[in-house]
Amino acid sequence: MTASKPTLRSVVRGIGSYLPARRVTNADLEKIVDTTDDWIVQRTGIRSRHIAGEGETTSQLATHAARAALEDAGLQAADIDLLIVATSTPDYTFPSTATQVQAAIGMNNGAAFDLQAVCSGFVFAMATADKFLVSGSHRRALVIGAETFSRLLDWTDRTTCVLFGDGAGAVVLEAREGTGATSDRGILTSHLRSDGRHREKLYVDGGPSSTGTVGHLRMAGRDVFRHAVGMVTDVMTDAFAATGTTAEDLDWFVPHQANRRIIDASADKLGIASSKIVITVDQHGNTSAASIPLALAVAKSDGRIKEGQLVMIEAMGGGFTWGSALIRW
Ligand code: UT7
Repeated sequence: MTASKPTLRSVVRGIGSYLPARRVTNADLEKIVDTTDDWIVQRTGIRSRHIAGEGETTSQLATHAARAALEDAGLQAADIDLLIVATSTPDYTFPSTATQVQAAIGMNNGAAFDLQAVCSGFVFAMATADKFLVSGSHRRALVIGAETFSRLLDWTDRTTCVLFGDGAGAVVLEAREGTGATSDRGILTSHLRSDGRHREKLYVDGGPSSTGTVGHLRMAGRDVFRHAVGMVTDVMTDAFAATGTTAEDLDWFVPHQANRRIIDASADKLGIASSKIVITVDQHGNTSAASIPLALAVAKSDGRIKEGQLVMIEAMGGGFTWGSALIRW
C-alpha cells in the first residue's frame, strides 16, 4: 500500500501593518508643487498618504508591522525561521533591512534576507517564502513589504512626488498539511514575471555601483500605465487557469495600490465585481512593496477578509516586474 504524500501549504496565520504618523494631504502638496487636489484625485484616486518622520527608517516601519503580525498570529520571534523583507528603500546598502528587523524583534535563528522587485516585491516575497515552506526546509515565515519611498522622490517633480507614500505590512506564513485541493487554506498558486527591457520607464537614477548616490525616482507614467493592465491581468489569468477557478470564485481582489484607474480597468477586464475590490490607494498612495500587505491588513481588521475566503493579490512595478498569487485565507 502506498501512503499518499501530504501536500504542504503556506497558510496565513497572522497579519500586521504600520503607517508613519505624519499624514500628508493633496492640499498639503498644493503648497509645494504646481498641482491640485482635483488633478490627483481624478488621475489616481489618491487623497492622502503617510510620510516617514525624520530619522524614521524602513526597518523601523517593518519592525512595527512584524511585531503586529506576530501578535496577531499568537507567536514569538523564536517561532519564525525565515524572514523576507521586500523593499527598494533599505536603510543601508548593506546589511539587509531583513537582518535589522530580525535583530529588532529578537529572532536569533533561521535566515533573513531582502528581496527587491520594486512594487511587485510583496508578491515576489510571498511566492519565494511559499517555495521554502512547501519544500519542508522552513516552517514559519515572516513576509514583510516595507518602504520609505518619500526618500527617493524628487519633491520638485509634480509628476511623481504626489503618487507615493511610506508604510509597512507583514504576514506570518506557516507550513501546514493540505490535500492539494483548491479548498485547502494557503497560497494555492503564484505567477511571477519580469522583463528588463522596460528599465527606462520606471527607475531610480542612482545607486552604489553607478553614481555612488541614492538617486531619485523617474517614471514615464503614461508608458507604465499602458503596460500595467495587460501585465497584471495576464498573471491573474494564469492563476485562474492553474487552479481551475474564475473571477466569480474570488471573495476579494487586493491589488497593488498604484492608481485607482489601473485597478478598476484590471478588475473590469477580468469581470471582477467592483464590490470585491479592496482599495487603500486613496488613503495610502502608492507604497510600493508595502501596498498589498497594508491593504490586506485593512480588509482583515475591518472584517471583510475571513478565514476560508479566496483572495487574489497582484502587482506590477519597476523592471518591469509583475506577478500574482491566489490565497485561500
Ligand atoms: O507602482 C508602480 C507602477 N506605477 C504606476 O502604475 C503608475 C502608472 N501611471 C499612472 O498612474 C499615471 O500615468 C499617472 C498618474 C502617473 C499620470 O496620469 P496620466 O493620466 O497618465 O497623465 P499624464 O502623465 O498623461 O499627464 C497629463 C497632464 C500633463 O500635462 P500636459 O502635458 O497634458 O499639458 C502633465 O504635465 O497632467 C500633467 N500633470 C500634472 N498636473 C497637475 C502631471 N502630473 C501632474 C500633477 N498635477 N501632479
